[in-house]
Amino acid sequence: MRPLIIAIDGPSGAGKGTVARAIAAQLGYRHVDSGAMYRAVGWKALRDCVPLEDEAAVATLADESTIDITSAHVRIDGIDVTREIRTPEIDRAAAAVARLPRVRTVLVGRQRRLGIDGSIVMEGRDIGTVVFPHADVKVYLDASPDERARRRANDPAHSGGPKGLAEVATLLTERDELDRTRATSPLYAAEDAVVVDTTGKGVEVVVAEVMAVIKLKS
Ligand code: C5P
Repeated sequence: MRPLIIAIDGPSGAGKGTVARAIAAQLGYRHVDSGAMYRAVGWKALRDCVPLEDEAAVATLADESTIDITSAHVRIDGIDVTREIRTPEIDRAAAAVARLPRVRTVLVGRQRRLGIDGSIVMEGRDIGTVVFPHADVKVYLDASPDERARRRANDPAHSGGPKGLAEVATLLTERDELDRTRATSPLYAAEDAVVVDTTGKGVEVVVAEVMAVIKLKS
């Protein structure tokens, strides 16, 4: 099989991370979580007291940072922030910096460089629409709001979050709304993406569906 670029987009809790990781493992591809880049930039901006709405300052901060993403770790300037970036505070900070066009330009450039040789599964919100509009395979994962909130509430990677399902659901809906309505690169399914509804499906079933799409397109 030629080296493919596989784009997996969708809202929080749709199952992107688990599915993208499993697909990458099956194909021996690199898995890149683009959301972790926005999270790392949000984390550093908060640490350095850079106002999250100061586009020029946050873009400079992003540009001057080294961000290193492996399947197990996220590092910014060599600092391991894998755990620290999965909190409600960073959920908000990441969505805030992701609204800034100049920050997106910096991070999209890096994401494109990572995919230059193919053999990559990249997950995010705009991978099939903006980062790799010519990706070989585009999948858009979705699930009902209730199911997405349940998954997020049970995700051990996310710490310090609200305990009640209702509150998790409210925060998730708020962030989705931010991602869907922003002016630059809003979240939506690319016209040529295959939409997979993961509601009520186990990981193996979804991975098999996505692998079937990949086989068709490769
Ligand atoms: O996927 P994750 O929830 O970790 O992403 C955190 C935030 O980063 C999202 O709410 C979204 O605002 C932003 N993001 C983005 N574009 C991507 C990936 C994530 O705008 N490709």
